[in-house]
Amino acid sequence: MSNSLRPPVGPADTARSSRVVVTGGSGFIGSHLVERLIAGGDEVTVFDSGPFPESQQLARQHARLVQGDVRDQDRLARAITPGVDVVYHLAAVVGVDQYLARPLDVIDINFQGTRNVLEQAARAGARVVVASTSEVFGKNPAVPWTEEADRVLGSTSADRWTYSSAKALTEHLTLAFGRQHGLESTIVRYFNAYGARQRPAFVISRSVHRALNGLPIVMYDRGRHTRCFTHVDDAIEGTVLAAGHPAAVGEVFNLGNMTETSVREAGELVARLTGAESQTVGVDTHEILGSAYEDVPRRVPDSSKARRMLGWKAGISLEEGLIRTIAWARANPWWLALPDTGAIAAAVPAEEFALSAA
Ligand SMILES: NC(=O)c1ccc[n+]([C@@H]2O[C@H](COP(=O)([O-])OP(=O)(O)OC[C@H]3O[C@@H](n4cnc5c(N)ncnc54)[C@H](O)[C@@H]3O)[C@@H](O)[C@H]2O)c1
Repeated sequence: MSNSLRPPVGPADTARSSRVVVTGGSGFIGSHLVERLIAGGDEVTVFDSGPFPESQQLARQHARLVQGDVRDQDRLARAITPGVDVVYHLAAVVGVDQYLARPLDVIDINFQGTRNVLEQAARAGARVVVASTSEVFGKNPAVPWTEEADRVLGSTSADRWTYSSAKALTEHLTLAFGRQHGLESTIVRYFNAYGARQRPAFVISRSVHRALNGLPIVMYDRGRHTRCFTHVDDAIEGTVLAAGHPAAVGEVFNLGNMTETSVREAGELVARLTGAESQTVGVDTHEILGSAYEDVPRRVPDSSKARRMLGWKAGISLEEGLIRTIAWARANPWWLALPDTGAIAAAVPAEEFALSAA
């Protein structure tokens, strides 16, 4: 554990700084959020089961770390103390590879962890922002999804719905804590966030990682599915706006870029911007993962509520975001040396996966 320090610089010299806690602050989105909050002059405590990664120099110098499991109330109480203004709750088990391998942890950590965070925040009198996901909508075909759109899920025998279900339950929990305990909370739903430091297990991070490592880009089911890729800087900007806006209490916001792109188009863009050979490896997910997995054909947010209420809009195009992400990846060989942890990598022999081309 390190002591918290005031950052030497920051645009928040004119505003009152806040005491904030970021659970999951050692992770991908959390690490960017922590840097943004430190730069804004906030006094930041990170609660995470992992240490600060080497790459998080700013956090190492200016944030306090309480290491622990969100399922451990006592440990959590060391981070969420009276006087904390805002708790950003991002700690979670995330990723297709994770919910296929650890469905019980996905349910347990996401649900019990959130319940504990809400309880501690209520005790401390802190406001809470809970990170949720576009996955809560499941495979609802009626895109774009407003915040109030229906959830359409598949069978409970498909492990992939554990994440969607657990996250939806955390949304219910959060809103219920507001109604029954008066907890001030806001839910933000991210849509395919990407950017520097993301584990190479997701569409963009994995494609960039493979392209820069000279490997073919993986294309599930011919890349016909569509996503609305949202740069992490946009996602955290919306998160911070939601935390500071009085009218956001008790509200849910879709924080997603509204530009729909097919996974194939995204892969082609990665290939062009990295200068890689545009070779791809095609994967039939049904054949390899069976009924445990089911993909969502289209995932498109209607984010106009965030625009209207928070003045937020995703401003970073996929091309611009990829240019930034690729530049960061080229400058960080340690990240390029990480193993590919995407779901299919675990299911297909490495040689076959690296060499076969679609
Ligand atoms: N990345 C996305 O595209 C995306 C999309 C929608 C929602 N989200 C949500 O945003 C949040 C952050 O996601 P991310 O992409 O940064 O994931 P991540 O895996 O990079 O970060 C999650 C962090 O939580 C920590 N954690 C996991 N289990 C824990 C436990 N039991 N106790 C304490 N800490 C624990 C991990 O160590 C990690 O640092 C999550 O709540 C996720 O559900 C992410």
